[in-house]
Amino acid sequence: MSVFESWSFSINRQTEELTRLWLAVNLTLDEGFPSHVATLEMNSIMKWKLKAFIQNTVAYLPDETSYSMYYWIQRHFGGLRRVNPTRKLQDGINTWKRILQQNQKPIGKVFFEVGTGRMPLVPMAFWLMGAGSTITVDVNPYMKEQLVRESLQYMAKHREPIAKLFGSLLDTARFDSLLALAQRPSCSLAEVLEHCKVKYIAPGDAAKTGLSENQIDYHTSYTVFEHIPREILQAILTEGNRLMRPGGLFVHRIDYSDHFSHSDKSISAINFLQFNEKLWDQYAGNRYMYQNRLRHDDYLQLFESVGQRLLATEPDRNSKLAELVQSGALALDDRFKSKPADILSITGSWIITEKG
Ligand SMILES: C[S@@+](CC[C@H](N)C(=O)[O-])C[C@H]1O[C@@H](n2cnc3c(N)ncnc32)[C@H](O)[C@@H]1O
Repeated sequence: MSVFESWSFSINRQTEELTRLWLAVNLTLDEGFPSHVATLEMNSIMKWKLKAFIQNTVAYLPDETSYSMYYWIQRHFGGLRRVNPTRKLQDGINTWKRILQQNQKPIGKVFFEVGTGRMPLVPMAFWLMGAGSTITVDVNPYMKEQLVRESLQYMAKHREPIAKLFGSLLDTARFDSLLALAQRPSCSLAEVLEHCKVKYIAPGDAAKTGLSENQIDYHTSYTVFEHIPREILQAILTEGNRLMRPGGLFVHRIDYSDHFSHSDKSISAINFLQFNEKLWDQYAGNRYMYQNRLRHDDYLQLFESVGQRLLATEPDRNSKLAELVQSGALALDDRFKSKPADILSITGSWIITEKG
């Protein structure tokens, strides 16, 4: 099948779903129609399929238009409606704490983050706790100056709760200096990055950085690896081995759940395990929602395959999902059938390794 054929097949399938949704909306508006029938019709259409349709459509636009439109959608209907940096700063704090648990001293050290996203909040959190510097790399130049400004304004307005988030880990002098910078309405993204010793490389590939070897102490990511195909993850970790100084750590937080379940509560966190590769690719094989569906055992094998030694994991086990798998109610795709329920039902984990 050509790229065009596969695209039109995917769009056709999703247009059908959209048409059913549209019909259901019209039925609910039609006073002569029994409302319970309309509601049933509405409920039978998964919200996540509508989301998949929108993402696939936007992803097919030319790069610049696609990025701007996706940003516009996120700003008006998605998670960027109101900027609140708390959760992402917490992601950085959680990563730092995992490093401390390994009896390491991250103050003054060099961090490397895979997958920056919209705002450099994780690197900013590292700096606020005393990091030397952070190199953060993203294949997509998603960072937005306006969002960074709004984050800083939020931090200035909510000084106490943000300081409390960090607790004793906060370098107060650095925090004050950052908030002082935030007071300047003209402060640019470049100034903020420089102030927090963040080197932002985008577009840039964490699998091929072009950086010289032996220059980082911590290789990190937060909910990024699940969006990258296995072969590329292998290349990213191999490149990480090259960049890593002796004694450094790889600290990765990976979310194994079906990301459509985050906004559509009618499906389970392992809903996507029922689809074959082709069908799943039609739903989520785009730049905005790609998910590799690797499970915990696959990740452990991946880290091992690049010669790393496992130091710690913190799998999130979910007994309800294990029961769902055991009951047979979720018809698993062949790819997952041979895996035990207690592996399939793990929805995420920290994986901490060192170069072997
Ligand atoms: C789900 S986003 C997460 C971003 C950020 N960590 C956050 O939590 O908001 C995943 C990011 O990884 C980036 N990414 C994917 N493949 C990559 C690669 N090979 N090198 C660097 N970044 C990559 C994507 O462009 C995207 O911005």
